[in-house]
Amino acid sequence: MNHKSFSGPVGIFDSGFGGLEVLKHIVKKLPQYDYVYLGDTARTPYGSRSQEVIYNFTLQAVDFLFQQNCPLVILACNTASAEALRKIQQGCLKNNYSKHRVLGVIIPAAEQAIALTKNNRVGVIATEGTVNSKAFEKELKKRNPKIKIFQKAAPLLVPIVEEGEHKSEIAKIALQKYLKPLLIQKIDTLILGCTHYGILEKQIRKVLRQGSGQVGQDIAVVSEGKVVAEKLADYLQRHPEIENRLTKNSQQIFLTTDLTNKFQTLGTQFFGKEIIAEKIKF
Ligand code: DGL
Repeated sequence: MNHKSFSGPVGIFDSGFGGLEVLKHIVKKLPQYDYVYLGDTARTPYGSRSQEVIYNFTLQAVDFLFQQNCPLVILACNTASAEALRKIQQGCLKNNYSKHRVLGVIIPAAEQAIALTKNNRVGVIATEGTVNSKAFEKELKKRNPKIKIFQKAAPLLVPIVEEGEHKSEIAKIALQKYLKPLLIQKIDTLILGCTHYGILEKQIRKVLRQGSGQVGQDIAVVSEGKVVAEKLADYLQRHPEIENRLTKNSQQIFLTTDLTNKFQTLGTQFFGKEIIAEKIKF
C-alpha cells in the first residue's frame, strides 16, 4: 500500500450491531466523512470469550478494514477495546501499519466519568471480558488515583437487547439485579461499558432513580455513543495528518460476517434509520 497517498473512510468495528449506536452519534456529529461499519455477527458475542480469541478476531477485523483503505479504525466494542486495542497499537500498527490509527471506546468513557464524578465513586457495568480485563479500572485510576471503582458484569443484558426485549419487564429485573450492588456503594457516576447498553439508557436511568433514594440527586450516566463522537471530533482536530486522509462524501457502508434478518431489523433500531448490510468473508 502506498502510505503517502492512501485515503479512505473511517472504519468502525463491533462484534455485532451494538456499535451502530456509536456510529449513529458519530455520523450525527461528523456527517461529512465516509464510514465503513463492520460487525462480526458470525462470531458475536465476544464478551464471554478468552483474551486470546478476542484479540485474534479483532486483529482480523482491523486488518480487513485497513485493506478497505481506512486510515482510522474505531473499535466501537468495549470487549475488543479492553482485550485487544493495546496489543494492536503496540504490535501491528508499529510494525506494518505505521500510518494507520486504531482507537477504542474505553478511554473516552473513562475521561468522561472522571469529569462527571464528584464523590470519586464510579460504577461500571460491562461484559465479563471487559470487567475481567480491568481496563476501566486502569484507565480511571491512571487519571485519578483516588477514584474508587465498582464493577459488575452484566451478561444477561446483551441477549436481552438482542432479543429486542430492552423495554420489557425482564430487562427491568436484570437491571435491578446488576445495579443494586453499585447503588449500595453510593456511586454518583455509572459507565455503560458495553455498546449494547446505550439502547437501555432510559430504563437504566429509571432504575437508578428508583434505587438511589436520594431525592433530586441523580447519578450521572456515561453512555458511549455521544462521548465517543465528541472525542473523535476533538481527535481529528488535533490530528490533521489523519483528518486529511479521510474521504468526505457522507457515505456509509455496512458490512457483516453473517447476514440475518435480525441484523437488518435490530441494526436499524440501533442506527436509528434503515440500513442495508452486505455480507463479507475475511
Ligand atoms: N460489543 C460488545 C461490547 O461492547 C458487546 C457484545 C459482545 O459481547 O460481543 O462489549
